[in-house]
Order: sequence, then structure tokens, then C-alpha cells
Amino acid sequence: MTGDEFRRYGHAVVDWIADYHSRIESFPVLSQVQPGQIRAALPANPPEHGEPFDALLRDVENLILPGVTHWQSPNFFAYFPCNASAPAILGDLLSSGLGVQGMLWSTSPACTELETHVLDWLVPMLGLPERFLSTNSGGGVIQDTASSAALCALLAARERATNYASNQKGCDGRIVAYASTQTHSSLQKAAMIAGIGSSNLRLIEVDENFAMRPDVLARQIEADKRSGLLPCLVCATVGTTSSNAMDPIAEISNIASRHHLWFHVDAAMSGTAALCPEFRHLQKGVELADSYNFNPHKWMFTNFDCNCFWVADRKALIQTLSILPEYLRNQATESGAVIDYRDWHIQLGRRFRSLKLWFVIRHYGIEGLQYHIRQHVELAQKFAHWVRDDKDFELAAPVPLNLVCFRHKAGDEANQTIMDRLNRSGDLFLTHTKLNGKLTLRICVGQTNTQLRHVEKAWKRIREEAEKRTAAG
Ligand SMILES: Cc1ncc(COP(=O)(O)O)c(C=O)c1O
Repeated sequence: MTGDEFRRYGHAVVDWIADYHSRIESFPVLSQVQPGQIRAALPANPPEHGEPFDALLRDVENLILPGVTHWQSPNFFAYFPCNASAPAILGDLLSSGLGVQGMLWSTSPACTELETHVLDWLVPMLGLPERFLSTNSGGGVIQDTASSAALCALLAARERATNYASNQKGCDGRIVAYASTQTHSSLQKAAMIAGIGSSNLRLIEVDENFAMRPDVLARQIEADKRSGLLPCLVCATVGTTSSNAMDPIAEISNIASRHHLWFHVDAAMSGTAALCPEFRHLQKGVELADSYNFNPHKWMFTNFDCNCFWVADRKALIQTLSILPEYLRNQATESGAVIDYRDWHIQLGRRFRSLKLWFVIRHYGIEGLQYHIRQHVELAQKFAHWVRDDKDFELAAPVPLNLVCFRHKAGDEANQTIMDRLNRSGDLFLTHTKLNGKLTLRICVGQTNTQLRHVEKAWKRIREEAEKRTAAG
């Protein structure tokens, strides 16, 4: 492709994306295709000869789009959001355009330094402890996902607890870690990968609000120590995936600190709310955390993937993950004056992801980000209010921020039918969880362009489906 052709097709792609966003509400939110349908429409073999670029873009429209679930639709209320914004998309495009691989400071100093700088910006923006700053003992790094952040935290915790011996000798089955029954499954996966073993991840009981019970945690740690086991980490969640429960961070951090355990805080979605000072009480006690992560790719308008992970003591993380083969040696590394992010995560190579985050923060400004977060929370609270006032529906969990867990009082089958019909209609997309053994519907307000009219329509459609079901007997 020549430079001129690139320019022409590049404009066409940006036009296509802009058009896609302007017509996004015309598509069924949840893709309606059957398994295998997309592959069946694709040619069995790759082309022998290159094809014109127009044909590629046409196939995106005709063959790919039907198989897309529209995560960026304002009628997307499923799971947790994975929102995006124009400045983030353009930042990502620039990252592709530069084509930088930033494994070492020396392989592109700007890639490392912008990342360190933006992650330092975010520390006061989110009211996080100063020890997370790179200018202090800590520092932040962009990981692909919260799952990778959890794994890095667990590895560092494991190493610290074994005096950095388990990397060399492996684990002996004595290392244990703690999370709640509501903690995201990525912790279990991390325990498997880190060689700790999933049964050595203790899933601590929760209270009536689905938050970890500190008294049970303390008793379990003491019992494990008495049995000769080696506790290494406690993970608390700010906003669990299932119901947005808030673990009592301050109490848990005190227990972790008393036992010298690594304290990891997973604020994958809800961490974004800390941009607004009035929501920071939800993570009170975060000052004692050894590590913390949140996903701008969930609720902070930065397209996937972008996870921000901070540690209070970067030396522990680097000592855990650093290996220096001869072919990566260079003067800047030897000088000790630079950060080499390859030592801060699992993989070696890395993209220039801070560009999109930098663009988002500069485009919106702190005030703009706060405005959108407050809007989302207000809309979810409105929805919760409608549920509370309805004779047929009930809330299934507290609503601290932007997730509403609710259910029809007629039971699991009714809720399943309502959800399936709504999702099949394409008008909106919502998902479920189980709370206290009961099927529960979830509406999460976090898509960049969701406004009052979308949330009103969602509630109207939910009510309509409930009434249709009642009328059908
Ligand atoms: C609380 C929590 N932690 C971790 C994750 C995993 O996120 P990721 O896809 O970034 O690994 C999620 C995903 O929804 C989550 O809600």
C-alpha cells in the first residue's frame, strides 16, 4: 500500500468508524447470529492474490458486522462495561501508527516515560496513596487486564513471603492466599498459574451485602498459621463483579498488615468512581494497600485493553519478575536510571498504550471525567428507585454506584424468560448473576453515550416483557 493509498483508505476507515457510531442504535445490541454462521460466510481459503482494500471494508460491513455485539451501544447494560471514546480510539491508532515495542526504556523512551507520568497523574486523581508514585517507593504500569495485575500481585506476594525462594525452588503446597467467595475468578486462575493451587486460595465468607467478613478472614489466617501454612496475600474488591459489593478495605488492610501479608485491592470497574471525591469513602483504607488496580477499559472511556496497576514497593515486583538475558543488556538499564517495564509484567513486549489514556485524560479533563461518572451513577440510582417502587420487582443487593441487581418476584423462570426475550429483541442487552441462589438480573450503566432516555427505555421494555409474561399466564 503506497503512502497515498494509506491516506485515502485511512480516511475511509475513520469515516466508517464515525458512521458506525452514529448508526449504532440501529443494530440489535446482542449479535443475533447462530454458532458457525460467520465462518460459513467467509471464504474457505485465503486469497492467492492481494485484494483491493475496498473489498475488505465492504466485507467488514456485510460479513463481520452481523456477528458483532455492540459493546459501544448506549443500550448495552450487560456484564461490566468496556467503554471507549473518540480520543482513545485516535490514541490507539497513533500507537499502531508508531508501531513501537516498548519492552525497555531504550526501545522507546517516550513509551516508558509517558506511561510512568500518566500513572503518576492518576494517583492524586483517584485519591490513591502517595507511596504508589514512581517518585516514591512505588510506581504504576499498564497491564493488559485486571487478571494479569492480580497474577503479578500474587507472584510478588508469593516471592516476598518465601524470601524470594519460590521462583527458584517452586512451591511446596504451604503457600496460601485469601479472597472472598465473591472475588473475581481471575484470582483463582492466578493461584493456579502461580503454582499456589486453587484450593490454597481461601474463599472467605461474605456478609448479607456480599462483602468479605473480616472476622472470618482473621480466623482463617490464624488457623492456617497454626497449621504451619504460609499466608502470603489478601485480595479485597472494590465493586465485585456479581453485585458491586464493597469489601471493608480498612478492616481487611489492618488484618493483612498485622500478619505482614501483601494486600491487593481489585477495583477493576468501580475504581473509576474514585475520580469523584464523594465516592472515595468506598475504598477508605486503601492507604495500606501493597498493590491496586483498575481498568480504564471498563468505565474510563479508554478502549480495551488498558489496566492500571500500582505497587507501593516496586523493588518487590521487579525482583519477582526480572530476568536479564544478554541480548537485552544496554547502558540505560545498567545505569539504573530508567524503568524497564518488561520487569513489571508477564510478557516481554508491550504496546504504547499510555497514548490513548493520555488522550482521554487530556480530552475530558478531570472535570469532564467526573461529570460522566456522576451521570452514570445518577442514572443507575434512578433505575434502582423505579425498581424499589414497583410491585412486581425487587432489588437484590445494595446499589453503591452504577450497577443495579434486581429481580422479578415471580422467581427464576420468570427472570430468565424476561432476560432472554429482551436480549433476543436486540433492544438492549443485560446479563444475570445468582445471589443467594436466586437468578438475578443486572443493569450496569457505564457506556459512554448512555443517557436518561436509554435507561428509561430499558425499564419500559423490562416492564413490558414482565407484563406479557403475566398476561400469558
Ligand atoms: C472485579 C473484577 N476483577 C477482575 C476482572 C477481570 O477483568 P479483566 O478482563 O481485565 O481481566 C473483572 C472483570 O469483569 C472484575 O469485574
